[in-house]
Amino acid sequence: MSIRFSCFNKMAVALLVLSCATVCAQTKSVTDNRPVDIVVQGAMDSELQPLLDALDGKEEIQIAAWTFWRGKIGSKTVVVSRTEVGTINAVVSTTLAITTFKPKLVINQGTAGAHDPELKVFDIVVGEASVDFGAFRSAHADAGAGIEQSRWTPMPHRLRMDGKERVTFNNFPGDEEAMKTAMGTAYKQGRVIKGIIGSSFEFNKEIDRLNWVRKTFGASSEDMESVFAAGTAAGFKTRFLAIRIISNSEFHSPKFEEVAGKYCAAFVVDVIKRLK
Ligand code: 5AD
Repeated sequence: MSIRFSCFNKMAVALLVLSCATVCAQTKSVTDNRPVDIVVQGAMDSELQPLLDALDGKEEIQIAAWTFWRGKIGSKTVVVSRTEVGTINAVVSTTLAITTFKPKLVINQGTAGAHDPELKVFDIVVGEASVDFGAFRSAHADAGAGIEQSRWTPMPHRLRMDGKERVTFNNFPGDEEAMKTAMGTAYKQGRVIKGIIGSSFEFNKEIDRLNWVRKTFGASSEDMESVFAAGTAAGFKTRFLAIRIISNSEFHSPKFEEVAGKYCAAFVVDVIKRLK
């Protein structure tokens, strides 16, 4: 019995060493464990360049499928995170960023489509809140009754904060202080407007869908990451702000303007420099 038990123990230790070695191999060069001031996120390279250009003394850190660069912007210690596109990438990269770099603030930024027809390409939306507009429950309908948005009602997210009661989030509010700083930052390519930033792993081009989402969830814009980063940050009680630039509007400018990603990241560099 004791021989079998010690064999088992050895195997367990060997497995632990093996899995540690695997994680260490995937986690290159997290050499500095000090908390950083800000983690700033963008899904695609085209949404990151001005941030990476502004990042002094940058060190690249790869954790599994996600890339981070650590350095300084002005007086702030900053980690730039390439989240990659979509919900899964947003949640995992935000979890890794918060647990590894322990930031005081997470900024999720990048391009978005317009839900508000008044918004023009290159306008910037500062997120007073982020909302998951893919979260709804439908009422029963019989076969052949079609798919009807009027039967759909929004479903909130629930987080069991600190393992106590479940807290209901109809949306995730943006950090007040960071929002004030963003609203006061100069920007030449368009307007800077407060609004509700919508996210879902969807790219919507049907005007009726866009109008329904706006009416039902109050969203000004749509992207694929903001609310998932926001919800993750909320669970970790980490300050969060989403900043999105309109890169396309199905109402009048359907072409995706890639340069929008550069304009937004440049604006966010200025926001970071102005943050207290
Ligand atoms: N709908 C959804 N996501 C959009 N993005 C830009 N425009 C839109 C849109 N109209 C962003 C997403 C994703 C990538 C496709 O660009 O956040 O990362």
